[in-house]
Amino acid sequence: MGCLLCSGKSKKKAKKQQNKKSIDQIPSREKLKLNQSLDVKSEASKDGGCGHIAAHTFTFRELATATKNFRADCLLGEGGFGRVYKGRLESTHQVVAIKQLDRNGLQGNREFLVEVLMLSLLHHPNLVNLIGYCADGDQRLLVYEYMSLGSLEDHLHDLPPDKNRLDWNTRMKIASGAAKGLEYLHDKANPPVIYRDLKCSNILLDEAYRPKLSDFGLAKLGPVGDNTHVSTRVMGTYGYCAPEYAMTGQLTLKSDVYSFGVVLLEIITGRKAIDDSRAAEEHNLVAWARPLFKDRRKFSQMADPMLQGQYPARGLYQALAVAAMCVQEQPNMRPLIADVVTALTYLASQKYNPETMPVQRPSSASSTPRMRR
Ligand SMILES: Nc1ncnc2c1ncn2[C@@H]1O[C@H](COP(=O)(O)OP(=O)(O)OP(=O)(O)O)[C@@H](O)[C@H]1O
Ligand SMILES: [Mg+2]
Repeated sequence: MGCLLCSGKSKKKAKKQQNKKSIDQIPSREKLKLNQSLDVKSEASKDGGCGHIAAHTFTFRELATATKNFRADCLLGEGGFGRVYKGRLESTHQVVAIKQLDRNGLQGNREFLVEVLMLSLLHHPNLVNLIGYCADGDQRLLVYEYMSLGSLEDHLHDLPPDKNRLDWNTRMKIASGAAKGLEYLHDKANPPVIYRDLKCSNILLDEAYRPKLSDFGLAKLGPVGDNTHVSTRVMGTYGYCAPEYAMTGQLTLKSDVYSFGVVLLEIITGRKAIDDSRAAEEHNLVAWARPLFKDRRKFSQMADPMLQGQYPARGLYQALAVAAMCVQEQPNMRPLIADVVTALTYLASQKYNPETMPVQRPSSASSTPRMRR
């Protein structure tokens, strides 16, 4: 897991950029001239003719107007590739999220293209909807549907005191919806798509806490025919990267299942995939969880203390069992995402009511105090 090329998305953008994605070998169809305006539509139609691009093209001026000239008070967040602003399109009055990519060359350019192509061809209720893009001069912007509750990360980690914690039912709903988005990529898309960047900050939530996967710039078409993997330079985010992928660069659908297991663990425990503020043996969530998985009596120690015991004991056990299977070292021991969907859909259907159902005793286990809650 300590692979240098796996990135450490954590707090600061500089760190993100330094650690984040390394350039993959670029397939020739995706090689674009850097200082030229990009014609994504013609690139897509070259790509086997399947490319009906529904996304709208915007001028830079339209998007500048929508965000009041990218005013600081419209800023929603910042990732490794640029800033995300809330905006309102003048033509339709639609509220949108606009990601302005840093103008730093090939890497961002390639991911921009992959994102537009992927999101134009893939449509599912649990994938974020791309409304359009702008490739004006050297500007690269992506326009998405606005997800009013932000990212799952915003609801799990470093919560401000006035923000509500997620209850058990909502957590299971988010986990099962995210799994369905991944199932669509793995099993419904043809050829399958390996997402490669599953993490809490890429799961966005709408006003009803419905989850949608976002950020497809790293997505890869999966193996076809008899091939079991695609070989690629290792990219992704430190803490979420499957160990065999980090070590060999061999990417399979099971790499995504591992990342999903890490996200599920974060959802259940409220802990971060990597948390340097904890004791050394608890820095890495999977390493901390592995010995606890072996002893069912320790399961209650793993529940997020913010749940205050309000979860079903059996549901916790089952959800942890799913997470444990997903993060197994051996990729072929991990379940298919379709089986994860079946398990989590069932768990999400079992509503927990703290008024009528037992509240678990608070656990004494969290050996490191939660630093910022
Ligand atoms: N469609 C959207 N609607 C609402 N908020 C969004 C949307 N897209 C992104 N955001 C907000 O912007 C933040 C930054 O997103 P971005 O994808 O640029 O970076 P990230 O996912 O945090 O990190 P990384 O670049 O490592 O993937 C998100 O955490 C989220 O809060
Ligand atoms: Mg993101």
